[in-house]
Amino acid sequence: MTVTGPAAERPADPADRPAEGPGTDLAEQVHRDPAAHRVLTGDRPTGPLHLGHYFGTLQNRVRLQRLGVEMFVVVADYQVITDRDIADRLAEHSENLVLDYLAAGLDPDRATIFAHSAVPALNQLLLPFLSLVSVAELGRNPTVKDEIAHSSQAAVNGLMFTYPVHQAADILFCKANLVPVGQDQLPHLEVARTVARRFNERYPHPDGTGVFPRPEALLSAAPLLLGTDGGKMSKSRGNAVSLSADEDTTARLIRGARTDTERRISYDPAGRPEVSSLVLLAALCQDRAPEQIAEELGDGGGAALKRTVTESVNEYLRPIRARRTEFAADRGYIRQVLRDGAERANAVADATLAEVRAVMGSV
Ligand code: TRP
Repeated sequence: MTVTGPAAERPADPADRPAEGPGTDLAEQVHRDPAAHRVLTGDRPTGPLHLGHYFGTLQNRVRLQRLGVEMFVVVADYQVITDRDIADRLAEHSENLVLDYLAAGLDPDRATIFAHSAVPALNQLLLPFLSLVSVAELGRNPTVKDEIAHSSQAAVNGLMFTYPVHQAADILFCKANLVPVGQDQLPHLEVARTVARRFNERYPHPDGTGVFPRPEALLSAAPLLLGTDGGKMSKSRGNAVSLSADEDTTARLIRGARTDTERRISYDPAGRPEVSSLVLLAALCQDRAPEQIAEELGDGGGAALKRTVTESVNEYLRPIRARRTEFAADRGYIRQVLRDGAERANAVADATLAEVRAVMGSV
């Protein structure tokens, strides 16, 4: 990735400053005026959602929904084939993802839940968007680099480098101005902001306004949870407690989590990342401060910490898991949720594509 395109020669623009999170200001703004915000977010249908997803973003989505913010949620099926040759059991994973959403509290009457591949006009936006980003910029994306480092593929495919631009289309097709994400997605949000700005500059609207808003990141207040191996929590690394796991599996996974040999439990994310991540998990489930949890555990050591974490997680997830089991009994309903979502998303995407074609002078 050494080729440079015209976009790379642009002078640095202060408007390209990183998207700001977690922004108490932004959170306050949303509270004050939920109707002024439209949220787009989503996940890859590659396997069950886990606690990292829940406290990183799902919980936040449900809060936003409760505030009355309009919400689009993409089942990112075209992102699945970035780091693997085939999208294995795609329909099953997509339906299970919707199940996780509904179990966590997303309401399909209020949130538009749809799959990438069901919305052609969204995908067509990728073409003009790709022309606005240089190959050098694509090669610098730290999240893409990390995914390449963990990929089992022999060769890196073109979608791996370009999917952040496709993700910009996810965000911009519905003119979302708010994207609740975890840390790792910030570089992608930056791409969406850059694409929106450059598109508006290159194809000004006759009435002086740009076609696209510049989306803002809404970072979850929860710091990153680590996987049970001390690495990044990930569906594909086998180090995560999924929302749909049963209580025994949850207990087994947490029992196997990495800790250290010091008996005294403390909350020190920089110095003791593994122990602190477990303390944090218990704190999130109990809705209490991690320092308080650590204090209570005192000299109890890793075993007591893990017992507390296991109980907290299982108790917190119990109603979510019960709802999931109920929804899982009606696959027809889940498929209907995706069909209804696709219909709404298509109407919005068609309207945006018509605007894009108009400012570009397409015939
Ligand atoms: N890349 C995200 C992930 O891997 C999923 C995703 C796709 C997304 N499109 C999005 C997230 C748009 C936020 C906004 O989890």
